[in-house]
Amino acid sequence: EQTGKSGYDHYMLKEINEQPLSLRQCTRGRVDELAGTVGDEGLDGLDRPDRVQFVACGTSYHAALYGASLLRAAGVQADAYLASEYAMTPCPVTSETLVVGVTQSGETADTLSALRIADDRGARTLAMTNVVGSSAARECDRTFLLRAGPEIGVAATKTFSTQLVGLAVLAEHLADAEGADPDLVTALRDLPDLAQQVLDESRAAEVAEEFDGMDAYFFIGRGLHYPVALEGALKFKEITYEHAEGFAAGELKHGPLALVTGRTPVFAVVAGDGALARKTLANVKEVEARDAPVVVVSDGSQEVAGYADRVLEIPESHPATVPILANLQFQLLAYHVADRLGRPIDKPRNLAKSVTVE
Ligand code: AGP
Repeated sequence: EQTGKSGYDHYMLKEINEQPLSLRQCTRGRVDELAGTVGDEGLDGLDRPDRVQFVACGTSYHAALYGASLLRAAGVQADAYLASEYAMTPCPVTSETLVVGVTQSGETADTLSALRIADDRGARTLAMTNVVGSSAARECDRTFLLRAGPEIGVAATKTFSTQLVGLAVLAEHLADAEGADPDLVTALRDLPDLAQQVLDESRAAEVAEEFDGMDAYFFIGRGLHYPVALEGALKFKEITYEHAEGFAAGELKHGPLALVTGRTPVFAVVAGDGALARKTLANVKEVEARDAPVVVVSDGSQEVAGYADRVLEIPESHPATVPILANLQFQLLAYHVADRLGRPIDKPRNLAKSVTVE
């Protein structure tokens, strides 16, 4: 088994470190710098639908939230649904609706059920999956393969990062037939190297050492960083068994702030030089004023040192790729806390890699 782990103690750490390669495989042939386009043969001929509905579970749902935000920013009506809830009260669809199942395994029962309901009602369907020949790939009209490579650890890592890339490609494809945002093309080309830089220089292990044994762990972000906050908390609770929650930064004052104390570290993503980052920084100040230990994932665009106990640095990047880099820090943080606690990281209790029951 050690051979399969290539010398790493856990598959999860191996898979975290494989992300530059996974990202390279995912973008290969899809990012054409000369033509200034991004695309995929699975999307060829896909006209802009009236609306897009994403259905997904767990980590893949967080990716779907990111995808829906990107599409809305591109002027496409889009929503993300938890697949188990979509199946309870299916949304209205037409033949011009595209329902996208985001599922690394392609076998998640809730997601397959939602896709089948959408198909029965006449929607077009697309599977975004890592597994060739999976049920989702076989049953949907179209397939976008993530090409992340096999993922053994129950905690999804490299498949999440490639899902975000796939969704950025989908958003560009649907946004503008003329060509892609040239800055995004460059960012996707550079992403594997930037991911490698984050992995090489991360101080997440030191932060894990400093902040273990706390009462609870909160993760906050805004806009495209909100799904990263949710994902950071899910990964943390899944493998550490510690209580962790992710919040939209703006929601803190509507309830969660009551939980914040000197024993609840808050992990915030503050990146970019726009209003989004400034507003999140204001939320950071709110928790700091209530004595919470604060760790900021920062790309250096905002002056965070006065409010953060620790900073986890990421390089500057395109707004659509920053979430991928920020999430690498949260993956490493969860991993190192779980490792210090001696948890069975690759097979957390009560969880399965692929959930084939509804
Ligand atoms: C993530 O770490 C979990 N393993 C879980 O939330 C997972 O993302 C979810 O079960 C969906 O799986 P899928 O992507 O294979 O559909």
